[in-house]
Amino acid sequence: MEHSDVIILGAGAAGLFCAGQAGQRGVRVALLEKADAPGKKILISGGGRCNFTNLGAGPANYLSANPHFAKSALARYTPADFIALVERYGIAWHEKTLGQLFCDGSARQIVDMLLEECPREQVALTCGVDIAAVARGEDGQFTVTASDGRIWRAPALVIATGGPSIPKMGASDFAYRLARQFGLKVAEPRPALVPLTLGGEDVLFRELSGVAAPVRARAGKAEFAEAALFTHKGLSGPAILQVSSYWRHGDPVAISFVPDAATDWLVDAKRDRPRATLRTLLRERLPARLADALTDRLGLDRELGNLSDRDLRRAQGQLADWRFVPNGTEGYAKAEVTAGGIATGELSSRTMEAAKVPGLYAIGEAVDVTGWLGGYNFQWAWASGHACAEAL
Ligand code: FDA
Repeated sequence: MEHSDVIILGAGAAGLFCAGQAGQRGVRVALLEKADAPGKKILISGGGRCNFTNLGAGPANYLSANPHFAKSALARYTPADFIALVERYGIAWHEKTLGQLFCDGSARQIVDMLLEECPREQVALTCGVDIAAVARGEDGQFTVTASDGRIWRAPALVIATGGPSIPKMGASDFAYRLARQFGLKVAEPRPALVPLTLGGEDVLFRELSGVAAPVRARAGKAEFAEAALFTHKGLSGPAILQVSSYWRHGDPVAISFVPDAATDWLVDAKRDRPRATLRTLLRERLPARLADALTDRLGLDRELGNLSDRDLRRAQGQLADWRFVPNGTEGYAKAEVTAGGIATGELSSRTMEAAKVPGLYAIGEAVDVTGWLGGYNFQWAWASGHACAEAL
């Protein structure tokens, strides 16, 4: 049996970072990982370059049943703190767009840095652990038993096993099952940052598979101006992934294909260029295949001079507010993250400790805090891991 001050389950972004921070404070950590190596999601993140934070990360960039929950942790460990760490390791980085910071080299550098941050004498990382049982004794000690009979014991346990997105990498609902075992509520999990699928009449848009365009996409109150991409199943691209986190079954997703156009742009164009057709005008703004598909659906392929202002205003309105009603998402297999998770109402926003179960903590994606696309989810992993480590 191995004794330590804390057992951290999961050596992903949050678990690795928390282990390093705690180890540096003199805490003896047993870090248990199911996979044969730590940080696998970090390695594939950001197209292999890891979008490790976002310059603008703040509470408004996260979804949670309690929008205030993330405030404390995010304020106490900021993007500037993580950038300082990355720079201390001499890792070159760049801002790609919208405050998103990526390694110039490889995501491997971030995993190596996180491992280096774990003092060897304090943090014992064990990979390939198949956890069979977790229990808490009368004395408040947690016992973790592996299927091969190995046992770890500690007065504190941190759940850092992430969410069920990308099951082919071994992701599962382990965190939720464990939380429920200890009587903690779980906010209904659902795939987020995920492509949406189209059915019904919208299925015709699948013909545009491969076509991308800058749009403004909206679901509920959330709106994002980024690129959208048509796929053979429906819609993807950053704008769609962003709104997917807010989308609920049955809701429409509204897309403006002319996000930068003036309100009366077609009526103005009729005055200035009456011989031009709607198709020509749309082709000036959009990829030809998309311009043609929209023109055909609007049924107004004539010279602008031959169209009434009323028809043109109707077309303007539709192009700025094209409604799709997705019939679903591509699910956990393609979801970059999982929304929902261990209910924030069960945890202290300062320490991530469960009020009902002293010594039990949850951090990272396992918790009902979900970031936007663009480095926000890693920032939450660092910040929640840091808040927890400070309390251990
Ligand atoms: P994470 O999933 O990183 O780690 C959980 C760990 O627990 C894993 O190592 C897992 O093997 C282990 N585990 C699971 N069950 C276990 C068990 N029963 N016993 C022991 N261990 C167990 N975010 C971002 O900010 N920028 C980006 O560039 C990207 N890019 C990106 C690309 C792709 C393809 C995906 C799928 C996701 C992203 N993300 C991202 C999201 C980001 O990867 C994610 O939010 C964080 O990794 C979450 O960190 P956690 O440590 O909470 O979970």
